[in-house]
Amino acid sequence: SMFRSMESVLRRAADARYFSSGAAPERKVAILGAAGGIGQPLSLLMKLNPLVSQLSLYDIAGTPGVAADVSHINTAAQVAGFAGEDQLGEALKDSDIVIIPAGVPRKPGMTRDDLFNINAGIVKSLCSAIAKHCPHALVNMISNPVNSTVPIAAEVFKKMGTYDEKKLFGVTMLDVVRAKTFYAAKAGVPVANVNVPVVGGHAGITILPLFSQATPSVNSLSHEDIKALTKRTQDGGTEVVEAKAGKGSATLSMAYAGAVFADACLKGLNGVPDVVECSFVQSNITELPFFASKVRLGKNGVEEVYGLGPLSDFEKQGLESLKEELKASIEKGIKFAKEN
Ligand code: NAI
Repeated sequence: SMFRSMESVLRRAADARYFSSGAAPERKVAILGAAGGIGQPLSLLMKLNPLVSQLSLYDIAGTPGVAADVSHINTAAQVAGFAGEDQLGEALKDSDIVIIPAGVPRKPGMTRDDLFNINAGIVKSLCSAIAKHCPHALVNMISNPVNSTVPIAAEVFKKMGTYDEKKLFGVTMLDVVRAKTFYAAKAGVPVANVNVPVVGGHAGITILPLFSQATPSVNSLSHEDIKALTKRTQDGGTEVVEAKAGKGSATLSMAYAGAVFADACLKGLNGVPDVVECSFVQSNITELPFFASKVRLGKNGVEEVYGLGPLSDFEKQGLESLKEELKASIEKGIKFAKEN
């Protein structure tokens, strides 16, 4: 499946050369944290995306090297590297999409919430700069804990008077990527055609894959299989953290997921119809102010937040038991932003 994905990325890059005189609008994408474990492969993948005309790579250090390296790839996107806070404004200026994988990752034994104290401050300062330099950009938040960093971003934008709920996305695509991979293997179906919505949030039990809505549907999976698939999707991040044994968390699969989600945002901006992906957004489909579900992406960002659809009893239970934790994480983010 890795080769198939890579193949389609490369094929799209080739298409871009073929159609280089085409009418796709100019799009600037900025990556904040571009020299990191996620940032570097994400920079590579965005350089391969034919919809990107300018790629702006920002980090506190190391970005000149990453930018020089990636810039030698013979695809259309023009690459520039920016290092240090005094270059952040220039990095962000006129961006259509800002992707944020800045911050510290988990080590074995840590939860995503253990990252809160460091990452909350980083996200807050980066979002203040976004409000100043590219207030209309779509923001793809990767930094954890996403359940809290998205509410922090919303509060910062509200304070600065630039908040547009249609333009703020928590990136939960990796949960979808994992659910698709694990489902395909267990159900014995080709992964390329699999889809699985994942709703709720992005941490532990707040990650709720809806295998009852998975396509193609199969009859061969038992309730025990579904329970195991659900748990593996929820613990997918921890599986990688433990396998990396202190060297960080998911970076390559996250870069892939981040690139797929940013591509969907670009397509939406460019007016491609029926672009639907799961994301953690401002929502009123439950009583919680933010929730991940399927959203339709368009010229303004979120054009429509879809409801959850019919749930199995197991999923209904999962939904009820995730609400308390998700609510607490959202409130923790809002509180931080208000007090700092
Ligand atoms: P990393 O430590 O390898 O890279 C983080 C980068 O952020 C570093 O290059 C660092 O210099 C940079 N950085 C720190 N402060 C910054 C600032 N103020 N401005 C700009 N850049 C800054 O970490 P990694 O593995 O790339 O993970 C990054 C984040 O992504 C973590 O918070 C991690 O938990 C999160 N993550 C999210 C996932 C998701 O599904 N949403 C999946 C995997 C990781």
